[in-house]
Amino acid sequence: MIMQIGIDKMAFATTPYYLDLVDLAQARGEDPNKYLIGIGQNKQAVVPPTQDIVTLAAEAASRLLDDHDRKDISTVIVATESGIDNSKAAAIYVKQLLGLDDFVRTIEVKEACYSGTAAIQFARGLVALDPQQKVLVIAADIARYGLHTGGEVTQGAGAVAMLISADPQMLAIESGSVALSQDVMDFWRPIYATEAMVDGKYSTNVYIDFFQRTFDRYCQRQNKQLSDFAALAFHLPFTKMGKKALEAELGDQEDAISQRLRDNLVAEQAIPREVGNLYTGSLYLGLMSLLVNGDVQPGERIGLFSYGSGAEGEFYSGILQPNYQDGLKAASLALDHRQQVTVSEYEALFNQQLGMKAEDVNFDLSQDPSRFVLSGQRDHQRQYLTRS
Ligand code: HMG
Repeated sequence: MIMQIGIDKMAFATTPYYLDLVDLAQARGEDPNKYLIGIGQNKQAVVPPTQDIVTLAAEAASRLLDDHDRKDISTVIVATESGIDNSKAAAIYVKQLLGLDDFVRTIEVKEACYSGTAAIQFARGLVALDPQQKVLVIAADIARYGLHTGGEVTQGAGAVAMLISADPQMLAIESGSVALSQDVMDFWRPIYATEAMVDGKYSTNVYIDFFQRTFDRYCQRQNKQLSDFAALAFHLPFTKMGKKALEAELGDQEDAISQRLRDNLVAEQAIPREVGNLYTGSLYLGLMSLLVNGDVQPGERIGLFSYGSGAEGEFYSGILQPNYQDGLKAASLALDHRQQVTVSEYEALFNQQLGMKAEDVNFDLSQDPSRFVLSGQRDHQRQYLTRS
């Protein structure tokens, strides 16, 4: 029998604050429906200076690991484009905060929003070589475009942690994925910049083109068609993007198959609508939202489209497993603990994030109830704290 490898567990974490996008629309002189309907976002995560990709990644991972997993993890891979160091991998800090054994491999991978998928594919290879081991993949990012920019409404932050193993509880990944890469300047962030640069409309066209090319090639090679999928999960930089891509494929098709794909896209969009772009984690937060809110059954096939600007896309598929709900840490999707901030509070927090500053700093921790916090910087070293 062929060994199945895939996603065994998933959990999510975001920041303790959010901005209501109706407030942002009013402050920016836009019709709120442009943000709510045209972009498809209701709220976005706001990042206090005491949170970064390390604290978010540690929180997401701590929500899924049990004692057995801790013993079996051979490798921790953090996928991010919001790295905090040009040399040291964020995974080392995360491993330390999680209290994992020192005999663990720790690395960071990058290719815009795509690298969470690359990490999963690399993890599959490691597990295939030694099925006893599990690989912890964490996709963690802070999407920053800048105040008063076109991309501002598509900001967000959070992390999705996934355990990749043999005989996975959730999704058995199938062979036959199609990856596509081309040198494209649709979105990038030079080493000296703390905010992304983007050719927004162009980026949406490249995204759709990459989806159609990878999906068509996958279908050709695997002899599949739309009816073979219970749902298509998309990278969601903003939720309307998934709708644009799905509609480009469905065209005028109005039948039960396309209706189910459309309904399941709405289910996928539900949680991302409230959080915003997670960059590397967006596809996987969407997948969690689909599994909680959608019409999908064990044994059915889910298609996944991963996209990272620059650009790289991959279409792949997985079969939903009988006990997927046991691996899905649905409680981690609860957002009721978050506190709303005003636009001026959001702007102040935006400007306080630790960016290119070289000086020592101590942050006021009293406003952040999170378990893992960044308390400041001393001698160019980030200081992390774990609260009990
Ligand atoms: P914009 O110019 O502010 O918005 O940029 P717009 O004028 O294009 O309007 C957006 C939509 O709202 C349009 O609908 C309008 O019709 C509609 P569409 O034609 O797109 O279907 N609209 C309204 N709807 C209802 N009521 C109204 C109303 N007014 C207008 N009153 C843009 C939007 C997304 C370009 C901008 O926010 C941006 O640049 N965002 C960042 C880039 C991005 O997210 N690109 C996505 C593809 S690239 C990607 O996914 C990779 C990425 O995640 C990064 C990575 O890989 O690391 C970004």
